[in-house]
Amino acid sequence: MAQGLGERVLAPFGRRICEVTRNVPSGGYRIFSVVDPSGPEPAAGQFYMLAADAGWGGEGGRPYLARAFSVADAERESSGVRVDFLVQAVGPGTSRLAALEPGEGLWIHGPLGRPFAAPREVAPHAAGAILVGGGIGVAPLALWRRRLLGAGIPARVLLGFRDRPNSGGLDLFDCSEIRLASEDGHAGHRGYVTDLLAVLLEGDDVGSAAVYACGPPAMLEAVRLLCADRGVTCELAMEAPMACGFGACFGCAIPGAKGGYIRLCVDGPVLRGDEIETALVPGSGH
Ligand SMILES: Cc1cc2nc3c(=O)[nH]c(=O)nc-3n(C[C@H](O)[C@H](O)[C@H](O)COP(=O)(O)OP(=O)(O)OC[C@H]3O[C@@H](n4cnc5c(N)ncnc54)[C@H](O)[C@@H]3O)c2cc1C
Ligand code: FES
Repeated sequence: MAQGLGERVLAPFGRRICEVTRNVPSGGYRIFSVVDPSGPEPAAGQFYMLAADAGWGGEGGRPYLARAFSVADAERESSGVRVDFLVQAVGPGTSRLAALEPGEGLWIHGPLGRPFAAPREVAPHAAGAILVGGGIGVAPLALWRRRLLGAGIPARVLLGFRDRPNSGGLDLFDCSEIRLASEDGHAGHRGYVTDLLAVLLEGDDVGSAAVYACGPPAMLEAVRLLCADRGVTCELAMEAPMACGFGACFGCAIPGAKGGYIRLCVDGPVLRGDEIETALVPGSGH
């Protein structure tokens, strides 16, 4: 197993200001990048809390809380770590982030949370990793795929979208290796991405596969049930409304499978399927 693959990276204390270096369209979403001059390289599945330096507020100048964002890609460059984010504008915070211009300042706090873990079995004949993304949930899978391939672990990618406006982020992947599904039939298989997963999970070598998924709650729950039924390990990158991102407010708590609560920002956002009773978390996903 590759050294360090899937290990949690700890964030430096406090937030720091970074410069936005690009903001480009990617289908119906946008990809924006910053250079983090002093932070570490994040692990795939981790997230940052983001706040624009200017224009970050509502009526009466009251500032917004920072918004949680998965790292979509990251690479060390001469001036720091370039971190890419994929955004879908669904409200005031995401609309402001989607409108960031190169040269603007972005406050970041991170990397935070528990990342994806390396597959248990990486033998030459093992089925490898199956990455399943839905909608804006494709974001963390791009970096995870690159890290897995870098460690010599085969990774198959299945991505699903509702319709053309609610799709994007393919620029973060090598498109030739991706299988697509869309509910309206505009790309790939007409239907759900979980239809494609069900076919892959018919294979003889499926016991050695590891499934990694991020997307809306209904998709994650379908993935969780399919994997439980076939005895396949799965990890789900989940969402809940996050006010602080580092364990202080309990706003992101969801029920755990063994009773009690799991704070998604510190114990997740990546959880094994058997750690939860359901992925249908109220207020999560969009
Ligand atoms: C760990 C994590 C990683 C995330 N990664 C990304 C990402 O890579 N790209 C991206 O575009 N978004 C991501 N999100 C979702 C993003 O944080 C929220 O959409 C954002 O906080 C909404 O802020 P807003 O001000 O635009 O909208 P709000 O006014 O806060 O809400 C607008 C709409 O979005 C819904 N919403 C609010 N918060 C969330 C949430 N946390 N998850 C889902 N729906 C929500 C509301 O119900 C409402 O319908 C992530 C969330 C988490 C917890
Ligand atoms: S977001 Fe505050 S405890 Fe998780």
